[in-house]
Amino acid sequence: MTQGVLQTYHEFLPITPATPMITLGEGNTPLVRSHRLAEQLGLDHLYFKLEGSNPTGSFKDRGMVMAVANAIENQSKTIICASTGNTSASAAAYGAHCNLSTVVLVPKGNVARGKIAQAIAYGANILVIKGNFDQALTMVRELTRRHPIALVNSVNPYRIEGQKTAAFEVADALGDAPDFLCIPVGNAGNITAYWKGFEEYQETEHTTHSPQMFGFQAEGSAPIVRGEIIENPETIASAIRIGNPASWKTALEARDESGGIIDAVTDEEILAAYKLLARLEGIFCEPASAASVAGMMKSVAKGLIPKDKKVVCVLTGSGLKDPDLANQIADIPLRELGTEIDDVERAVLSM
Ligand code: F0G
Repeated sequence: MTQGVLQTYHEFLPITPATPMITLGEGNTPLVRSHRLAEQLGLDHLYFKLEGSNPTGSFKDRGMVMAVANAIENQSKTIICASTGNTSASAAAYGAHCNLSTVVLVPKGNVARGKIAQAIAYGANILVIKGNFDQALTMVRELTRRHPIALVNSVNPYRIEGQKTAAFEVADALGDAPDFLCIPVGNAGNITAYWKGFEEYQETEHTTHSPQMFGFQAEGSAPIVRGEIIENPETIASAIRIGNPASWKTALEARDESGGIIDAVTDEEILAAYKLLARLEGIFCEPASAASVAGMMKSVAKGLIPKDKKVVCVLTGSGLKDPDLANQIADIPLRELGTEIDDVERAVLSM
């Protein structure tokens, strides 16, 4: 039977005798060695952490299971979050699993269709906000100050605790920490969580070092890179379309303490990486996730990542979340044929 992250890493987590040990099978995701992209880039050790393999298709499940367990421990009956889509899908799933009422606030027009479908399927109460993620987050923070509703965004420290388990898994799989960890940055909870995880693993002598943290924002939504709040963030990578990250300060700490960088990648670079991953590696991630690979490629080109180092790119969510995008940018024609074997044969042989 699957253990889940609470059971597997309980000694590192804020678990008490009263914590319900819930799981939907989150964690224990694959760390896949790059095959063709590494060769193309001349890298000796490139790996992808496939967080799209979590139960709701993103890394959020690691943090959500901890935050929801804590909400139950605190006798909460309702959980709430603002979301660009994945947090809401995850909250809705764990809310359903634990018989909690789940409320999600999502920005109108900027959430991938698969993510909304998940929230609907899991039975969440969905509020579509005529505003962006940052405005929705401000509202849920205020609402949870006014009412006894559990906030399950990554401003909830239990989310960070759960999410740090991904760093443990990376180190466990490699036998030590990698040299570089490339990760997309939106609200900046995940880079904060990975850094916390790597630091704790080094402190407890599970690893000999911690990686340089390389975080990547989308060019039109890069407040940390620019050093100022972006009022109207834009990017094709809707998951990281965030102009005022809640964990800004701890993202800077992760960068500076690890000797890393936080840089921006353009939508074109994100889409190029998104296609390369699918075509060269057989890995279909969502565009926000491809920001880590776009950033890694940019950093290799700049000479910031030496080619003999161990590099892990975190692929935060599944490509199936955003089927519209894959179809929109498709450059492979679909050929329609009848049931004549000769026609089909001709088509097959002409490929
Ligand atoms: N990748 C994906 C697929 C995401 O959904 C997110 C964030 C990130 C990366 C960035 O992680 O915010 O911890 O820096 N999604 C949030 C949401 C904002 O609401 O689903 P972060």
